[in-house]
Order: sequence, then structure tokens, then C-alpha cells
Amino acid sequence: MKAVVIEQFVSNFEDLKPRDAPLPSSKKSSDIQIKVTHASLTHVDMLYAQGLHQNNKRHVKPPFVLGTEFAGIVISSPSNKFAPGDRVFGGGLGSYAESICVDEGIVRRVPGLWSNAEACAVGVSGAVSYGSLISVARLKRGETVLVLGASGGLGVMAIQIAKAVGAKVIALVGDKEKSRIMKELGADEAVSYRQRNWEEEVRALTDDGEGVHVVYDAIGAIESALKCLRYRGRIVIVGFAARGGKMEEVRANRILLKSAMVHGYRYGEDGRRDPRRTEEVWSGFLNLVEAGGIRPIIFQGNYMGLESIPRAFGDLKMHKVWGRAVLRINEDVEATKEAARL
Ligand SMILES: NC(=O)c1ccc[n+]([C@@H]2O[C@H](COP(=O)([O-])OP(=O)(O)OC[C@H]3O[C@@H](n4cnc5c(N)ncnc54)[C@H](OP(=O)(O)O)[C@@H]3O)[C@@H](O)[C@H]2O)c1
Repeated sequence: MKAVVIEQFVSNFEDLKPRDAPLPSSKKSSDIQIKVTHASLTHVDMLYAQGLHQNNKRHVKPPFVLGTEFAGIVISSPSNKFAPGDRVFGGGLGSYAESICVDEGIVRRVPGLWSNAEACAVGVSGAVSYGSLISVARLKRGETVLVLGASGGLGVMAIQIAKAVGAKVIALVGDKEKSRIMKELGADEAVSYRQRNWEEEVRALTDDGEGVHVVYDAIGAIESALKCLRYRGRIVIVGFAARGGKMEEVRANRILLKSAMVHGYRYGEDGRRDPRRTEEVWSGFLNLVEAGGIRPIIFQGNYMGLESIPRAFGDLKMHKVWGRAVLRINEDVEATKEAARL
């Protein structure tokens, strides 16, 4: 099969070329074989390619097949949970390939209303955002939440989850087009991070001018988040998409002065330590999906085949993308399967 293998970390995305690689084989009795139809292009994948993610120190070292999220068709399953031909999606290393072999436990059936491309666009982002906003920050109806990194793959899920539980949403975005799209998605307000003192605008948009109840931070901007937060507000740290690998130093007295609660959320590690918590966030998120409250958001760029990865990463780096960029790998397989079902 063809795959994008990281033999050594790259500094130029043009070096990410598909090559022949052995079909992935089962290492555990719980492994499932899947033909990949789609793979997501995420911030994490860009970091993995360059060796800049915290996991590159321990869990993800060369050689490995790049790509962390996928949708596909089951080839063979170790149990009767899935049958060959079932449409599935999940998050697991090695998705920039024609086939992937992962633990069956991390794979879910594609909801009937979604295509594989749509399921791939949601990936684990819905569960991560649900865990952050609901399990950790305890966001409630009537509260106001500021979403940092609102136009990203995680952010578009956070906006919709917050709206589904009845919160008011202020989205931080990079340009007018993204502002329009985030409002279409349900954000009540959108503020540009390119304007000076945007934190003041956020506070002015809260009902009493005292600041937001919750900040969902996927970009790494805690000092700004604290400026936007009301007294006894909650911040959940989700990611660092704006930091280019350089972490922020936070003046701890700012946290004390607001009696703020600052909480990190690491979806993968949480699941490794206690799989029940992962099940809880998935079940909460999928309830919202079934209630019709969540739309997958696929970026309009046409990324056909593993060869388009450098172009897609270039678009991500240039801030062109909103929602999730999705790579189409064996898309025709899904179509064939659908036709066979009719
Ligand atoms: N905690 C967890 O378990 C977990 C799980 C998955 C991912 N993550 C992390 O979450 C973060 C977001 O992931 P993602 O997949 O949503 O990324 P993404 O799709 O690439 O989106 C990144 C977002 O950050 C914004 N952004 C980038 N540079 C910015 C800047 N200088 N100032 C303000 N905003 C900026 C982008 O807006 P513009 O395009 O407008 O700049 C976009 O909305 C990443 O750091 C990722 O590693 C965490």
C-alpha cells in the first residue's frame, strides 16, 4: 500500500511524499483492519511531522505512518462488534495510508446521517470539545463562553456544543470570512484577534460587561483569557495552536486576583488512564449528534490523494482553513459500498 512514513522529522512539508509500505498488521487480538477512505489534516499532524508535539518525546517516534484521524470501511474485525464493509471512523496513528490497523476500542460506527468525509471531519474533535466544555468547565445554559481557536477543527465543534447546551458563544477568529462562517454555525458574536485590545471588545459583549463565565482555549492565550474572564470564571486549556511550540509564561497573580479556575484537558491521556471517561464524553457528544445539534464542517479545499498533504499543510499554515481539511484517499470504496447497500 501507499503511506506517508516519517523516517525522520521534516522541516519542509514538501518532503512528505507517499511511498510503498507494508500493509499494517494486527499486533493485538483486539486490532481491526480498515481501508481508509478519508483522513483529517490537523494541527497535531503538522506538529507530529516536525517532531514538535509533546507526544514525540515518548509515544510517537520515527519510524511511523503520519496521520491521526480517519474514516473508512472495515476489512476484518476481531469481534462481532463490526462486520466487513461497515463504515467507521476514529482517531489513531497511521491514517495517511491506504489501510490502517488500530485497536477496535477506538473505532466508532459512522452515524447514519453522515458520509465518511463528514465523520472524518468530526473525528475526535467533538469528544475533545465536549470533554473540555461539559465534563471539565461544566458550561451551563445561560452562561457565556469565549471560544479561542473558534474556526479550527476543535473550535467549530466547541461552538456547536456550547449552543446545544444553551450558552451564549463569542468566537475569536482571524478574518471576516471566518467571522461570517462562525456566526452561520451559531456563534452569537465574533471578534477578530487581529485587532488591538480585542479582550476589551469581548468583555463589552458580555451581558453585564463583567466578562465571560468560561474560556475554551485551543490556541494558548491564558493571559488574554484571564482578561476576558469574569470573577470566579473557568478556563479550560485545550491546545496551543497559536504558539508555534513556544509556551506562554503566565503571571499567576492574575489567576488569584480573579479567583479563576484554570484546568487542562488532555483527551488521549485521560482515556489511557481511565477509558470510562472517554466513553462518557463520547456518549454525551453522540447524544447531541442524535438530537441534530451538530454539523460536520469540511473545509472546501479539494485534497485528493496522499500527494496533496504538502499543499493542505501549506493551507493550514497560511490560516486559509476553517473547520476540518479532509484528505480523500479511497473515496470510491465508500461509494461502492453505499451502492451495494441500496
Ligand atoms: N487537549 C486535547 O486533548 C487536544 C486534542 C486534539 C487537539 N488539541 C490541540 O488543540 C489545538 C487546536 O487543534 P485544531 O485541530 O482545532 O487546530 P486547527 O484546526 O489547526 O485550528 C487552529 C485554530 O487556531 C487559530 N489560530 C492559529 N493561529 C492563531 C493566532 N496566532 N491567534 C489566534 N488564533 C490562532 C486558527 O484560526 P485562524 O486560522 O483564523 O488563525 C484556528 O481557529 C491544537 O493545539 C491541538 O494540538 C488538543
